[in-house]
Amino acid sequence: MKTVTINQLSEYEGQDVELKGWVYNTRNVGKLWFIIFRDGTGLLQGVVVKGEATDESFLLENDLNQEDSIILNGTVRKEPRSIGGYELGVKEIEVVKHVTDEFPISHKEHGADFLMSNRHLWLRSKRQNAIMRIRHQVVRAIRNFFDNNGFTLIDSPIFTGNAVEGTTTLFEVDYFERSAYLTQSGQLYQEAGATAFGKTYCFGPTFRAEKSKTRRHLTEFWMVEPEMAYVNLDENMTWAENLVGYIVKQVLANCEVELSTLERDIDKLNAVVPPFPRMTYDEAVNLLKDNGSDFKYGSDFGAPDETLLSEKFDKPILIHRWPAEIKAFYMKRDEHDSDLALGVDMIAPEGYGEIIGGGQREDDLDILVNRIRHHDLPLEPFQWYLDLRKYGSVPHSGFGLGLERTVAWICGTKHIRETIPFPRTMSRLEP
Ligand code: 4AD
Ligand code: MG
Repeated sequence: MKTVTINQLSEYEGQDVELKGWVYNTRNVGKLWFIIFRDGTGLLQGVVVKGEATDESFLLENDLNQEDSIILNGTVRKEPRSIGGYELGVKEIEVVKHVTDEFPISHKEHGADFLMSNRHLWLRSKRQNAIMRIRHQVVRAIRNFFDNNGFTLIDSPIFTGNAVEGTTTLFEVDYFERSAYLTQSGQLYQEAGATAFGKTYCFGPTFRAEKSKTRRHLTEFWMVEPEMAYVNLDENMTWAENLVGYIVKQVLANCEVELSTLERDIDKLNAVVPPFPRMTYDEAVNLLKDNGSDFKYGSDFGAPDETLLSEKFDKPILIHRWPAEIKAFYMKRDEHDSDLALGVDMIAPEGYGEIIGGGQREDDLDILVNRIRHHDLPLEPFQWYLDLRKYGSVPHSGFGLGLERTVAWICGTKHIRETIPFPRTMSRLEP
């Protein structure tokens, strides 16, 4: 008999198949009983009827526990009222292993902290399954986007000798006789990559010693960072919006079941088609003030400001040309106003906040040296980075998209901790 998975059942209507997985739940309805079965690709309702199932299998009803590992065989039937649109007329149930202790995550409500402490088991639940599958599709879309657009993958290192995004969120580690830092961003290495290959990207974990306990911050998160030679700020924004438009389109095409499990409002995602609205920092500040905010010019937007701005639009917005004082040392200044940095942030709709940060990079050696000094950073670890301005310097730009914030927005989940398999926050290192 053929072994198949739940997500393939539409190809096997009317046929006898075998499925390998686990008990999700059981339900009695008098003369017959139902088994809700999961196999990692979905949920399936099995109907166990005396006479159709072997006697031994029929009698298992009261012996099965949540998460027993079992192998089912039976006939696939179309059943529009059933989860997934198919059900299995069960003929035989083989118990691979009984669970003797009660599974900690029952079908009742549990508190967030309890669930996080049981993350290794919580991942089996329907909602977490849907989120992880969407995360996978987002990653796939990101890779396809860059691979199909002439980018070369250049992995940035994780151990680094210097800060990229300020010194306050660095994780320091012992590195033989000296200190190393876990990378906050692979950007600087991508700048070397872009000068060597034209267009590159890296995609991996990045680290920030964030002391904030917000629903948007992790200490370990994944970031994809493209970098492009001979690309200015405007062109950079076009790359950013096209990437995000493509990701959303791919998720809509591949994750219909998952989005429906999460009860995501699809209309909101369907609206995410480039081009996205663009505005300067100054314009954004005016918009805030017009809407009753007492925002102080020159500071960074907080979560409530981002929410207020995003609620005015049904697409992500691009905010560019920021006060240089609040942006990183490597940002190029606006030639029309040297107080402004050519940075850009993309703010997701529906109050999900910043998902992209990037901009055009300073390409002049002397200016860059002064900026590093002005930011009180040591020059020594940046010597290699400065070489990029000595040899073949060109205008260049790039950005970083935070994977978990993007997944949180697309899934419509409030908290970022559900969007990564094993989240790391200030208070959590296990599981
Ligand atoms: O805006 P950020 O700090 O930009 C950079 O790191 C640039 N060097 C990237 C580049 O130009 N190559 O971070 C980029 C994105 C943010 O917009 C956000 O989505 C995500 O990374 N991010 C976080 N996600 C989760 N938890 C955190 N603590 C995050 N910090 C940043
Ligand atoms: Mg940022």
